[in-house]
Amino acid sequence: MSKLNGETFNIEANNIEKLTELFPEINTDGKIDFDKLKQILGNYVDDADERYKFTWNGKGEALRLSQTPSMGTLRPAKEEGESKNWDDTQNLYIEGDNLEVLKLLQKSYFNKVKMIYIDPPYNTGGDFVYKDNFKDNIQNYKKVTGQVDGEGNATTTNREYSGRYHTDWLNMMYPRLRLARNLLTDDGVIFISIDDNESHNLKRVCDEVFGESNFITQITTLCNPRGRSQDKYFATNHEYIFIYSKTELPKGALSVLKEESQIQKEYPEVDNQNRRYRLIELRNTHIEFGKHNRPNLFFPIYYDPEFNKMSMENKKDYIPIYPIWNDGFEGCWTWDREKVVNDLEHLEVRMVSGSWKVYRKNYAEGSVKMLKTIFADNLYYTDKGQKVISELFDTRFKIFESPKSVSLIKQLIQTRCGKNDIILDFFAGSSSSAHATIELNAEDNGNHKYIMVQLPEETDKKSEAYKAGYENIAEIGKERIRRAGEKVKDELKEKYENASNEERKEMKHPDDLDIGFKVFKLDSSNIKAWNPGKYENIQGAIDDALTPYVPGRTEEDVVYELMLKMGLDLTYSVEEFDVNDKVIYSIGYGFLMICLADEIDVSVAEKMTEIKEANDQQEFRAIFRDEGFITDTDKTNVKETLRSAGLAEESFITL
Ligand SMILES: C[S@@+](CC[C@H](N)C(=O)[O-])C[C@H]1O[C@@H](n2cnc3c(N)ncnc32)[C@H](O)[C@@H]1O
Repeated sequence: MSKLNGETFNIEANNIEKLTELFPEINTDGKIDFDKLKQILGNYVDDADERYKFTWNGKGEALRLSQTPSMGTLRPAKEEGESKNWDDTQNLYIEGDNLEVLKLLQKSYFNKVKMIYIDPPYNTGGDFVYKDNFKDNIQNYKKVTGQVDGEGNATTTNREYSGRYHTDWLNMMYPRLRLARNLLTDDGVIFISIDDNESHNLKRVCDEVFGESNFITQITTLCNPRGRSQDKYFATNHEYIFIYSKTELPKGALSVLKEESQIQKEYPEVDNQNRRYRLIELRNTHIEFGKHNRPNLFFPIYYDPEFNKMSMENKKDYIPIYPIWNDGFEGCWTWDREKVVNDLEHLEVRMVSGSWKVYRKNYAEGSVKMLKTIFADNLYYTDKGQKVISELFDTRFKIFESPKSVSLIKQLIQTRCGKNDIILDFFAGSSSSAHATIELNAEDNGNHKYIMVQLPEETDKKSEAYKAGYENIAEIGKERIRRAGEKVKDELKEKYENASNEERKEMKHPDDLDIGFKVFKLDSSNIKAWNPGKYENIQGAIDDALTPYVPGRTEEDVVYELMLKMGLDLTYSVEEFDVNDKVIYSIGYGFLMICLADEIDVSVAEKMTEIKEANDQQEFRAIFRDEGFITDTDKTNVKETLRSAGLAEESFITL
């Protein structure tokens, strides 16, 4: 049996575990013997006082902040007006401070995200919302978002008030980037938009977090061709995107597929299976290679012009073709005899300028192009992003300042993602990344899923957004996805209806396009015992024992909190089963079963066994409240029944 505590994934403990795995001798009673570690690492330890390093005021504290587990949780907001298509969607929209949210996602999404795109505040003065309160982030977050009374803790940081603006920005970014890296798959990539205010600091902090050798490139995007007239010396018309991978990637790992029109131009031939290809001469066209130095590549390929057939044998009516140049020079093929024999069907013979030539078919499939480091396409301009939102919200006014171009984010996703990856944006703003993901899925029949994280930052009361009824940016972000999803689906429907049967085979059916999202909101833990600062008096402790949850929280809130603690994907299905008025929640088709009711008896265990069997689950876990059992005998009976259904000792879990 195991007992759950309120902490999320403990990053420090995980690091110690990893070190101990490598060097068991440095762990003494759970603590690391640093001197011993230094001895093991020998000459590779750099402990000189003066060395190349990047540091700033508060870095140590920011590092600690990224390591302390969160005591908060994410509460589902299933209702209409918040989530869309709750039961069918694989997408997540999370409202809350991204530091806490990233911590909460550590277990469920560790090593699962293929692509992160972020467009953090550029630190242009007053553009980031509040300082992380090292002591209690959830409380601080609630004050800032107006959820509890406070003494006006909206500590807007800008250069007028604070001489520490670079430091503050770094303290904000450093822990978030560290946490974000954990979520990337080993072959995952992060893209970060930034301008000149912090690009130098971003580069250095990313070099530290991701490793210099994982720096892929710094793209310059032409974002505003007219330039910023308010600038002092030059009218800036560009910004940057920094790209880092989690581990070193092979050459070409960030290429994109060529566009159809380009493919048609470059691959003019079409075979009987409708595949595009081009012909490349099989003869080696480098003058320095020939029969004289590559004798094994000089041999005849026989051809029957009447029936357009090739052979490696000299048959009747077949003519020999040699790799001979027009001037008589005896050249050579690029393939050896064995390859020609095996791949004869990929060769073609044509008569060119009076002589027979052998060609190999080079297919367009997987044809990729390498991107250049300057993005100057007008589709990527910022005003394109603005136009998309104005159209969606049917307004001439700016509902959101500087949304990114959807085409730009689509292009970035395409450089690294296949068709079925998780895309994360934890500075989501107006949700351009969600919009890009939906469009891409509609275009290439993909099934990418997104996770958007956005602080419910209040909109200015004088802003157009506020006047239009959007009190915070999360409201704008969610509404944008609702509208964008419907629009993309309508367009896809029209395209589908006009497509031929053959074309439809390659297309996404409009009903299969996921335009929904599940909304979760950051909050303190639902379980009183896991909330810090309690039991100030006896009565409080008694009340806690009687009502285990924070007032206003539901069993479903607790179920999702437990899913996070157990490291389960928040989009897993959650089904409810009723046994004598007690609810069993079955998560991921019986993978995890939770019953938080009182007076639990064997009937609950029997139902759980039934669910497990109906879903053919080999392994499963069961969670109950300790107080859910009236007697120890009930608990033992439930446990025994589940054990005979195959439940492992440590998978019987109590709160
Ligand atoms: C530059 S905007 C992103 C714009 C976005 N790329 C778009 O196209 O709409 C940065 C966003 O990050 C949000 N933000 C700032 N600090 C945050 C935090 N600690 N947690 C979550 N979101 C935050 C801001 O509210 C703002 O909406």
